[in-house]
Amino acid sequence: MKKTIPELKKMAEKGEKITMLTAYDFPSASILERAGIDTILVGDSLGMVVLGYDSTVPVTMEEMLHHTKAARRGAPNTFIVADLPYLSYATPHDALNNAGRLVKEGGADAVKLEGGTDYAEIIYFLTTSGIPVVGHIGLTPQTAVQLGGFKVQGKDMESASRLLQDARAVQKAGAIMIILEAIPAALSRMITQEVNIPTIGIGAGSQCSGQVLVYHDLLGLFQRFVPKFVKQYEQLGPKTEDAVRKYCEEVKGSVFPSAEHTFQLNEEVITKLSGGK
Ligand code: KIV
Repeated sequence: MKKTIPELKKMAEKGEKITMLTAYDFPSASILERAGIDTILVGDSLGMVVLGYDSTVPVTMEEMLHHTKAARRGAPNTFIVADLPYLSYATPHDALNNAGRLVKEGGADAVKLEGGTDYAEIIYFLTTSGIPVVGHIGLTPQTAVQLGGFKVQGKDMESASRLLQDARAVQKAGAIMIILEAIPAALSRMITQEVNIPTIGIGAGSQCSGQVLVYHDLLGLFQRFVPKFVKQYEQLGPKTEDAVRKYCEEVKGSVFPSAEHTFQLNEEVITKLSGGK
């Protein structure tokens, strides 16, 4: 059964961890739903792990919609959050139009946008228009260039207190959850204690209300780089490569397809077809 927003909040209040993973298509979303994940994120990380871009910046609304629809078909009974891509929520008008499309056309239950205090007004506008919003603070990949690259955030007094303020502002604006990315564990613990909405960490230590990882990272399907906070539970990239290599060898050696994978034609039909010869 699909978790509701109050149920997710209650889980956090009871200290029951919330699980979230990314999925961008039908098969991965189906696997996550069958495995009992609490929430799915159709993240704009799809730009890097599926579409081969160097960052999340080039991801478009059409790409997000395409993949959100596929994930929804794969996981009809799971709470799905879809990312608003870079520059798709810079004005209230764009934010409402694009968030509305992810919910109405894509089938998302909520949208996620990156930013703290500076985006509180947009979050408030979407929320009061009836669109549930998940905040995302700390390392925000869409604006990583402004943050000096893919670096841990909130390590000094100034940036740590700014992140605390961001978390408060995002909550006050009506967000239903906050993603905390790449911040020290002690800071995410403080934020989690401070706010009364679930915090979902990625590279933010164990004391958030829940955790999120990128599907392709967890399964060892993305080899370009592996951030410190990623745990690879499997190595499906190399395993898949081995399987493909084996297939090529077997086709070239006429080992595949064998009789087991071949449809047979009745001898009588063969004889008749070949004119009785
Ligand atoms: O796009 C994404 O996958 C994300 C997670 C890293 C939180 O935003």
